[in-house]
Amino acid sequence: MSSTPRLRSLSGIKPTGQPHWGNYFGMIEPAVRLADDHDAFYFVADLHALTTVRDREALQRDSLGIAATMIAAGLDPATSTLWRQSDVPEVLELTWLLGCVTSMGLMERAHGYKDAKAKGKDLGFGAFAYPVLMAADILLYDSDVVPVGKDQVQHLEMARDMATWFNVAFMGAPAGGTVEDVKWDGRMLKKPNALVQSRTAIVPGVDGQKMSKSYDNYIAIFASQKELKKGVMAIKTDSKGLEEPKDPETCNVFQLFKLFATKAQQEELAAKYRGGNFGYGHAKLELLALAEAHFGPKRARYDELMARPDDLRDILAHGAHKARSVARPVIERVREATGLPARTW
Ligand code: ADP
Ligand code: TRP
Repeated sequence: MSSTPRLRSLSGIKPTGQPHWGNYFGMIEPAVRLADDHDAFYFVADLHALTTVRDREALQRDSLGIAATMIAAGLDPATSTLWRQSDVPEVLELTWLLGCVTSMGLMERAHGYKDAKAKGKDLGFGAFAYPVLMAADILLYDSDVVPVGKDQVQHLEMARDMATWFNVAFMGAPAGGTVEDVKWDGRMLKKPNALVQSRTAIVPGVDGQKMSKSYDNYIAIFASQKELKKGVMAIKTDSKGLEEPKDPETCNVFQLFKLFATKAQQEELAAKYRGGNFGYGHAKLELLALAEAHFGPKRARYDELMARPDDLRDILAHGAHKARSVARPVIERVREATGLPARTW
């Protein structure tokens, strides 16, 4: 009996500190859900982390932390593939080959580069080349869908552009064709689509800006109960008094509450906001209860996994082996197309 092969979902997350609610709702949760009916390929982006991390113990600890997070969030490492980016060195080879067809114009339009330039910061070559390594991550595994938060969409578009240029330059795709004209025929680099959940595209932080490690406005997924409470209590609100009616739609606490709540729970809380005599402190306690109910059991699983680092290392090593068996034929067909010799070792 023949069955259609499952589409491959692929994504990566950097081991740069503790994952937060933005990472969870923007990427981790959708990625875990996709694993139900996709060939799930997820990795710890340690090479990308090295554009900023300068602490070897932290890199190692956080890499295991990302693996444990994905599993605690529900990813089954037996049926999906979970690995460390640096364990598949072919990704660096593809980075170079893609770099050879990538224009400076495209690289200079990257948000990360433009922001750094606008702030007068020296970006560093690794951070400048970041989108090329990310394109290689995606294209090396013939990925179909890439679950990410909205901030990564430009990187996905760049990856698609690089695939087109590579296909035109080396794979016999028609020059001048649009991105969509170049059909994947099993020889070319496959162009993936970003998958952004509209509801969680940009999760706000405690200050209302996008939640991010770099803005220090985040709540960690597996924060202890005490830290979780501290995080929730720190959410900024306006200064309306207890008795005044309040607008849920402009309130940060309510926006975060929505991530965890059913429609009925959202309507109930919205009515309390509008009714007055309900303070932001009360709303925060309701958010805290839902967040604890959601993350409490996962935190326990995370703690268990982190207590057995060797098991996590084994899972990642096994994942690297599976990932590499997909990467190898791709890099071979790419080498052949460019004129590089087939590997004899
Ligand atoms: P950070 O911005 O905190 O450094 P990362 O760059 O490591 O986070 O992001 C990892 C994944 O989480 C990416 O897919 C990214 O789009 C997603 N993500 C990060 N922050 C948010 C957010 N506030 N809302 C939605 N998705 C997010
Ligand atoms: N750049 C992504 C981030 O900051 C992480 C990442 C690296 C990634 N390689 C990827 C995401 C490939 C999706 C696909 O979050």
